[in-house]
Amino acid sequence: MTAIRTIGVLTSGGDAPGMNAAIRAVTRTAIYNGFAVKGILRGYRGLVEDEIIDLQSDSVSNIVQQGGTMLRTARSQEFMTPEGRRRAYDNMKRSGVDALVVIGGDGSLSGAAIFAREFDVPIVGLPGTIDNDLGGTDATIGYDTALNTIVQAVDKLRDTASSHERLFFVEVMGHTAGYLALNGAIASGAEAAIIPEMETEVDQLGELINQGFRKSKNSAIVLVAENPATGGAMGLAERVKQEFPQYDARVTILGHIQRGGSPTAVDRILASRMGAAAVEALIEGQRNVMMGLSDGKIVYVPFSRAVSHDRTIDRSAMDLIRILSI
Ligand code: F6P
Repeated sequence: MTAIRTIGVLTSGGDAPGMNAAIRAVTRTAIYNGFAVKGILRGYRGLVEDEIIDLQSDSVSNIVQQGGTMLRTARSQEFMTPEGRRRAYDNMKRSGVDALVVIGGDGSLSGAAIFAREFDVPIVGLPGTIDNDLGGTDATIGYDTALNTIVQAVDKLRDTASSHERLFFVEVMGHTAGYLALNGAIASGAEAAIIPEMETEVDQLGELINQGFRKSKNSAIVLVAENPATGGAMGLAERVKQEFPQYDARVTILGHIQRGGSPTAVDRILASRMGAAAVEALIEGQRNVMMGLSDGKIVYVPFSRAVSHDRTIDRSAMDLIRILSI
């Protein structure tokens, strides 16, 4: 095994607030421990296309508070092919990068596992996604900020919903996971959350909406996790309108607003701790593990578990939404 002298860092897949704080923590912890650091631009695409830059301590100044990622991000088709990964490996070696820190979601970490196996490269990962859908960690970088963005938006929608006595379906992101919808609903006092992990019949939903209208606030808000299979909030609203024409229903899709903005303190701290831990993990000789958070402590989660989608939604959270909206 070659000794690690230079650590490369990249962000890949959908951007998430806090990625910059993570890049900063990786860079500065690596420099503190005597490593050289290189930033790979546009995720794996930058490895394939040889877009690799030097990172010094001042390269990451003033970014802890910024959303997005200073390294840019992409989803690379080429890296999905053996030829693309071979080019990526050759570029990595030519630029002297001995080990990688990959910051991204399940697609990015799955790619990391394949690359590490094929070329025997030391790689550790950080969970960078607003979706909070990675196994073995209580939280992912960007989730808390996205949740706060959702809550702020729903608070505003509540003003107009109650003024007009309307029903709002608010679509939030989540890929195939309902965490943003579920916890967004609890935090904003929504009447219901529709999530891919649990089926909700239109009749059941009608009952929940009725509850909202029986209350003094005279409006109802339903958070819907994006789901192409069901047509998301639009599809749901159409079905509900047919069954319950008495409601003046509207749909709001929050979209990519949820991915932007300055990270919350929670995300900055999480990203800083995980970024530093990733470098320490490489020093310890760890590889093929993602940094996770469990009971407030940083833990190493094998890539295979991180991407396994083995986390189950807490049913009691669904019950809580129902109970608190009566
Ligand atoms: O994985 C993060 C995420 O925000 C998902 O919730 C969403 O489905 C997806 O990215 C959309 O990504 P894009 O529009 O960049 O393809």
